[in-house]
Amino acid sequence: MNAGLIGVGKYVPSQILTNADLEKRMDTSDEWIRTMTGIEERRIADDSMDTSDMAYNAAVEAIRHAGIKAEEIGLILVATVTPDRPFPSVSTMIQERLGAKNAAAMDISAACAGFMYGVVTAKQFVESGVYDYILVVGVEKLSKITDWEDRNTAVLFGDGAGAAIVGKVSEGRGILSFELGADGSGGKHLYQDKYLHMNGREVFKFAVRQMGESAVNVIEKAGLEKEDVDFLIPHQANIRIMEASRERLGLPVEKMSKTVHKYGNTSAASIPISLVDDLAEGRVKDDDILVMVGFGGGLTWGALCIKWGR
Ligand code: COA
Repeated sequence: MNAGLIGVGKYVPSQILTNADLEKRMDTSDEWIRTMTGIEERRIADDSMDTSDMAYNAAVEAIRHAGIKAEEIGLILVATVTPDRPFPSVSTMIQERLGAKNAAAMDISAACAGFMYGVVTAKQFVESGVYDYILVVGVEKLSKITDWEDRNTAVLFGDGAGAAIVGKVSEGRGILSFELGADGSGGKHLYQDKYLHMNGREVFKFAVRQMGESAVNVIEKAGLEKEDVDFLIPHQANIRIMEASRERLGLPVEKMSKTVHKYGNTSAASIPISLVDDLAEGRVKDDDILVMVGFGGGLTWGALCIKWGR
């Protein structure tokens, strides 16, 4: 019996910050940002919308999409590096608001790979029969740790949330394989003290290598070939990194998810937000073979190979 994603949801704030807006605030240009990252605009949450509010909104949609009741959820996992506060966790905050009174709750800190870590953890509990339904949320309000004086990082990130319900799916469908990894020696390249700091060059090199390798590894672990892959959902950090992983799999442009231009890098939220848009716009269909792959601060990485459908 396989676990799979049986419902998904997303929330992005309505306020749009364009490259043109950034040109007015710092020494940058629309041309540079588009060429170097693929980003055109990103969403920014205002003071009334904290991380837990975005997580709650995405979770409500995922629960509705899965057709379950909040009381049926056994565990809530929220992947975030921008919680409302160190504790209580975002997961306990949304447990209360959702009325998920039978759920245990904890947050996961694995930066942009956090949603991959959450889904893989959920899979273990579902397949061992411990919990029927697990809510996994990837959510970030990166705008609150962004140094708006630092053009090297300020242009890259956005706010948002994506959520999924992990539960049992029919024979042959669901999560076929996964890979998780970490390399703490690279922690110095992407970290937060007051603000987020990044060595862009180092992270870029790591990301290109790791995204490609992890994608190939989960395909092999699933007993499949690159040609079997219908759709790739890479972490939406930078179009050039995404393109490198697509080329490594030999996939045409239309077989890769692309939302980085409209949301920027939303860290742990980027893969589930993209998945929601890909489903809504018909790019992902039942029985498609999907590869999802993320990387982030830590350094961390994670990938999944999924046969889509319930
Ligand atoms: N606007 C205009 N110029 C900018 C700029 C901006 N927003 N940010 C940096 N620059 C300038 C730099 O100051 C530098 O100028 P200099 O040559 O006069 O010193 C020049 O552009 C090149 O900077 P560099 O940082 O070396 O560029 P790069 O080729 O590494 O590209 C990134 C920068 C951020 C696009 C790239 O490193 C990257 O995408 N890294 C991965 C980031 C990522 O994915 N992080 C999230 C991980 S989850």
